[in-house]
Amino acid sequence: MALKGILGFEHGIVQAPLGPDISGPELVAAVANAGGIGLLRCPDWECPDYVREMIRKTKTLTDKPFGMGVVLAFPHELNVKTILEEKVAVLQLYWGECSKELVDDAHSAGVKVVPQFHIDLAPTRKAVDVGVDAIIVQGHEAGGHVSGKDGLFSLLPRVVDLVGECDIPVIAAGGIVDARGYVAALSLGAQGVCLGTRFVATHESYAHPIYKRKLIEYEKTEYTDIFGRARWPGAPHRVLETPFFDDWRSLPSHENEVDQPVIGRSTIHGVGMSPLQEKEIRRFAGTVPNMTTTGDLESMAMYAGQSVGLIKEILPAGEVVKSLVEEAQLLILKKFNNVA
Ligand SMILES: Cc1cc2nc3c(=O)[nH]c(=O)nc-3n(C[C@H](O)[C@H](O)[C@H](O)COP(=O)(O)O)c2cc1C
Repeated sequence: MALKGILGFEHGIVQAPLGPDISGPELVAAVANAGGIGLLRCPDWECPDYVREMIRKTKTLTDKPFGMGVVLAFPHELNVKTILEEKVAVLQLYWGECSKELVDDAHSAGVKVVPQFHIDLAPTRKAVDVGVDAIIVQGHEAGGHVSGKDGLFSLLPRVVDLVGECDIPVIAAGGIVDARGYVAALSLGAQGVCLGTRFVATHESYAHPIYKRKLIEYEKTEYTDIFGRARWPGAPHRVLETPFFDDWRSLPSHENEVDQPVIGRSTIHGVGMSPLQEKEIRRFAGTVPNMTTTGDLESMAMYAGQSVGLIKEILPAGEVVKSLVEEAQLLILKKFNNVA
């Protein structure tokens, strides 16, 4: 039996956009070459030339379709214009309203729009009404920024019911790392799955090797708001429960990264966190360590989803896609078709 692809892609496996600067051209191309939906992560400041360069570099590594994710909470209009000009296959949106104008512009450029939601059903309904092409439902289990408190098991079927008659794919995100999670999501009505943490722990991700290693070593995560409070207020996140996090989990609410000591340096999308800032990383910054990061990495934020304990090795990204598909097919045959 074959699992159905979505949005014109061979497989319903989405590699989440991983910010800042973790899902670059190499990772996205590897996922695309395996038939999955790879998503670049757009920088959080206006830099259309750089965005164009990222997309074009990815096109040199794959002739398959791919997309780009934009966090709407940050400046993005010129970047989005460039993404549409470059006609990537998918524009993924997060943390902001998905307007009809934006959806119409994307569709005129031949680009599909796929927002990710995490809070409640009203914004999801609105997005369906303005014509988005699929919805990603993010459960509380998810790594990275997430403000919804509902787990995927209860949230996903409600969203499936909500969009039911509209015939657009619902994609499940949060705590899925292997075929068991994929099949569970399919049973709950999803047509695709979106994985973040599993793809951070791949050869091609731009995460620092120490961050990748910790994803293998650590079993537990915590939902918190201690990182990046000044830069992205009101944006709780799920991180690895490292010794540093344990020491500071009760950080008083008036504290943030602004007056903290510098603990490292990083190059993010070729520059600092914004053109106006230094490339310094202060304690409690929301920046995860990428390949370029130096300094006290143990004290930096490391986003991860609740199923991190199931990740046992760093794999090629294409193998993640392939084994999800192949093992899900086997699992379905064994569990649901009574095949030994
Ligand atoms: C390191 C990291 C960075 C992330 N950055 C983004 C982002 O920039 N935009 C976005 O829509 N989601 C982002 N996410 C969340 C994912 O879209 C997705 O909801 C989540 O990874 C799913 O849970 P999982 O990590 O358990 O697979 C990020 C997740 C991680 C782990």
